[in-house]
Amino acid sequence: MFLTNSVLVRLCGAAQTSTSTSLTVDRRNRLAERRLNTTVLARCLRRRVAACRSIRLPVLLSRIGPTAQLSIARSIARPTAGGSGISLSMVLAMTNRILVIGATGHLGSRTAERATAAGWSAVGTYFSSPLEAACEQLDVRDPAAVREVIERVRPDVVIHTAADRDDWRVMADGGAHVAVATAAVGVRLVHVSSDAVFSGKEIEYDESALPDPVYRYGAAKAAAETAVRAVHPGAAVVRTSLILGDGRGRHEALTRDLISGRVRGALFTDMIRKPVHVDDLAGALLELATSDYRGILNVTGPDVINRYDLGVLIARREGLDPHRIPAGRIAGSGMSLPTNVRLRTDKAASLLSIRLRGVHEFMAATAGQAPAGHP
Ligand SMILES: NC(=O)c1ccc[n+]([C@@H]2O[C@H](COP(=O)([O-])OP(=O)(O)OC[C@H]3O[C@@H](n4cnc5c(N)ncnc54)[C@H](OP(=O)(O)O)[C@@H]3O)[C@@H](O)[C@H]2O)c1
Repeated sequence: MFLTNSVLVRLCGAAQTSTSTSLTVDRRNRLAERRLNTTVLARCLRRRVAACRSIRLPVLLSRIGPTAQLSIARSIARPTAGGSGISLSMVLAMTNRILVIGATGHLGSRTAERATAAGWSAVGTYFSSPLEAACEQLDVRDPAAVREVIERVRPDVVIHTAADRDDWRVMADGGAHVAVATAAVGVRLVHVSSDAVFSGKEIEYDESALPDPVYRYGAAKAAAETAVRAVHPGAAVVRTSLILGDGRGRHEALTRDLISGRVRGALFTDMIRKPVHVDDLAGALLELATSDYRGILNVTGPDVINRYDLGVLIARREGLDPHRIPAGRIAGSGMSLPTNVRLRTDKAASLLSIRLRGVHEFMAATAGQAPAGHP
């Protein structure tokens, strides 16, 4: 994206800028940076705060030191006669850099998109296939690579969403590598965990509950949590549940595949969870990015539903025949999976400003709408 000269000239007020129209944003920012002192920039930003969201100010601001950034942020956030309504955390988000690990994934891509929309300078990583918003290649199994990316990108916050459910080294070791690298340079970490760390014996779990996983993925997530909390005690560790809502989740894809017969299997009527909308979860992660919350936080929607009924909601939303979904039960399947796991979210409700919608609400809101790319 380009910062036009006219915007830059207006933004910078008294500062003299080049009038060449062929400069890239980087060159323009470098030129502007040389000519501006932070006082002038702060004055300009106060006047131009509304424009901050539409231009790449984070790029400009990321080139100045953190103390100057904070003073500018405070300066902009100060209430004005006109009442901009911009909070300090919003302004800080606009000036800071966030690294989303796993930004080609379902949750990671929405988190990176929302971060950019909120004014963060967002950098995303991919493992196998890059996207425009995820252009840093990273394998979290390689601790040196994790350290190198974090030292080079120099983020203010890392949100770790990368996953390969079948690979212990990604799920468990990868989480530990990210925690070690962020702790070493004092960077805030928001780590994504799962209700899979529980067996379901207790049914309801608050943040103080200790993991008792019954299968390999859950054990890997629990191992990652343990490492993160030991190595980086200031990190936020978000336990969540089935992620869906925009049509791009793995559960939505599986429902379609079962209905079309592309895959064989069944949705379990005795697998009970509290699904969360991907956007609500991404919003919660970004709130935690600018908070100093430490430790576990449960973040799910309020509605309890079994996996088969969830498939029915997905099918109805997309105009597919729910009768074609094969139903099954964990009991009798020979699989060792948690049955009834409900994360309590009282703490998230009191702590976060984002409203975590229930699955019935958000599925009804998109009823009849097939997601892009699907009939
Ligand atoms: N999906 C759910 O319902 C659910 C429920 C509870 C918790 N969670 C947790 O939520 C998080 C996000 O899940 P998701 O479903 O959004 O994940 P996802 O869509 O499967 O995305 C996985 C991401 O991880 C990246 N990745 C894979 N292997 C990697 C490696 N070795 N090194 C670095 N990156 C690697 C992928 O990159 P490429 O695409 O480039 O290969 C992709 O960006 C995970 O921590 C998961 O355990 C998910």
